[in-house]
Amino acid sequence: MPHPLDPLTKNEVAAAVEIIRRDAGLDKSAWFETITLDEPGKAELASGKTLPRQAYVCCYEPSSNRTLRGIANIETGALESWEHVEGVQARIVPNESVAGGNVVKADKRFLEACAKRGVTDMDLVLVEPWAAGNFDIEEEQGERLAYCHCWVSNDAGDNRYGRPIANLHPVVDLQRMEVIRIDDFGVVPLPPDTNSIRQSENLRDDIKPLEIIQPDGPSFTVDGYGVEWQRWKIRVGYSLREGLVLHNIAYQDGDRVRPIMHRASMAEMVVPYGHPGGGNFRRNAFDTGEYGIGNALDSLKLGCDCLGHIHYFDVCSHDWNGNPKEIKNAVCMHEEDFGLLWKHTDTHSGNMRAVRSRRLVISALCTIGNYVYGFFWYFYQDGTIGVEIKATGIPFPSAIALGEKPKYGALIAPGVEAHVHQHTFSFRFDMCVDGNRNSVREVEFEAPPIGPDNPNGNAVRIVDRELKSELEAQREMNMASSRYWKVTNPNEQNALGNSTAYKLVPGANALPLLNPQSSVGKRSAFMYKHFWATAYADDELFPAGWYPNQSGPGEGLPKWTKADRSLENADVVTWYTLGFNHLPRPEDWPVQPVVYASFHWMPDGFFDENPALDVPPNKPQT
Ligand code: NI
Repeated sequence: MPHPLDPLTKNEVAAAVEIIRRDAGLDKSAWFETITLDEPGKAELASGKTLPRQAYVCCYEPSSNRTLRGIANIETGALESWEHVEGVQARIVPNESVAGGNVVKADKRFLEACAKRGVTDMDLVLVEPWAAGNFDIEEEQGERLAYCHCWVSNDAGDNRYGRPIANLHPVVDLQRMEVIRIDDFGVVPLPPDTNSIRQSENLRDDIKPLEIIQPDGPSFTVDGYGVEWQRWKIRVGYSLREGLVLHNIAYQDGDRVRPIMHRASMAEMVVPYGHPGGGNFRRNAFDTGEYGIGNALDSLKLGCDCLGHIHYFDVCSHDWNGNPKEIKNAVCMHEEDFGLLWKHTDTHSGNMRAVRSRRLVISALCTIGNYVYGFFWYFYQDGTIGVEIKATGIPFPSAIALGEKPKYGALIAPGVEAHVHQHTFSFRFDMCVDGNRNSVREVEFEAPPIGPDNPNGNAVRIVDRELKSELEAQREMNMASSRYWKVTNPNEQNALGNSTAYKLVPGANALPLLNPQSSVGKRSAFMYKHFWATAYADDELFPAGWYPNQSGPGEGLPKWTKADRSLENADVVTWYTLGFNHLPRPEDWPVQPVVYASFHWMPDGFFDENPALDVPPNKPQT
């Protein structure tokens, strides 16, 4: 019996396709945007009832330019629901992207524009159709569009982005699969050839083997997609859109299993680029909602992507015909030594107590075009949860004439410029700290003025206030007050008489530079606040809405929170926006060493004392 939150299997994906093809009344041209587990709602899961395995399916029908979706019951074979979603565009799927690129490469106007630039061998050309956004351009309204970016491969053939064709942007109608126009903003010389990504000669010869050995095996146990490690209990999940999802995160505290998060995922991201000229303003990517992270997960390789004693989880994606596409080793899990956990030396007696920190790592990597994103979740022995993005791959390159200086980017190789951009991720945490009734608080450090209560100017007050409703709970970081947020359970107290809580500890972060009145800014309003909290609703999963491809303004978080629902002792969802500005360096070319961005959730009065006092010391080695 699969667990209700287990990802769909290959057979289940195939069964869902059969139901849709048979009962949804689509014509033959229709293709599958998404076939993924229809996750049971919180109440259904809690009911303890046996729940049917169901698939959420979204299709696009080119003949009618319609996006349709519904629920297929895999056990009964019934199509439980099916609807046309008015005025939206499905995500761009990989097969569609390839087809769009091929249409461009056969277009006479495109061939002419390439010839003007000395490019004639189409086998070396990469045309990438990107989601076109929504810029109120009349001829684009109601069309299913892609705005393309183009490159020529390097001579070594291992970098298809090696020589950017700047200023050339075919606009493709993906419904009819035709080029509707070619935006050509003038010839920029192709950069000279660029180095191979993988050097074959002169590799370092001074690196000795480093082996990670766990002679007695790992300390985790796995049952299907359920994981237990140290005191942690976690379910690994998968969505075709978000990729890695974690469910039912709980901590075994004595004889109590204490829930912390019901569901956690990276729910949306947007990467706006900062060059205003030519067609560059259209360069931005909602990688989750416009393309899907889950269908782009890498099949990981032991010894390359992952080192040590690894447990892999497989997932099942699909192509646009609905053929199941298994991704073996899509999610990696292993343990890491993480340095010191805690230490005390009694300087009087000389007694030293120290224990090493072990962490459980659950991760997935996705390759979207030029770029690679890693999503790493860490579980620590002291109850801390860490989240880390690892960004690598090829920085999105454009061309610039030799001798010219970039104004909105950086020169990263001769004739190659990378435009400044921001990576912004929205993480969604469906919280259940000691149960489903939680509250949200903001904590700040405040220095009162010198006066009777603070004669020496050293006083620091803690201002801890409740964020009672959704409009109140839209917050930015503040370095001056070290602001952070916590989710408490006002119905549960620790030994000190305070509500049990987890706090969200921001790390390095950024604020958007994209103007909030810009088209992309209005479609990604989530990025203007680091912290949001909302009242739980089953279908409020994606902060820029369900259909960001060519979406209008204000979908998702801004729309839902207008209701200003109460967050007091309520079923609460929190959202954290993590961003970093990226001005690529020459060192990021031809492939970028990993850039890290991270934050943590830490217990804050969840336990009565350090919960890791029982971690045994390691044997001293001599
Ligand atoms: Ni970047």
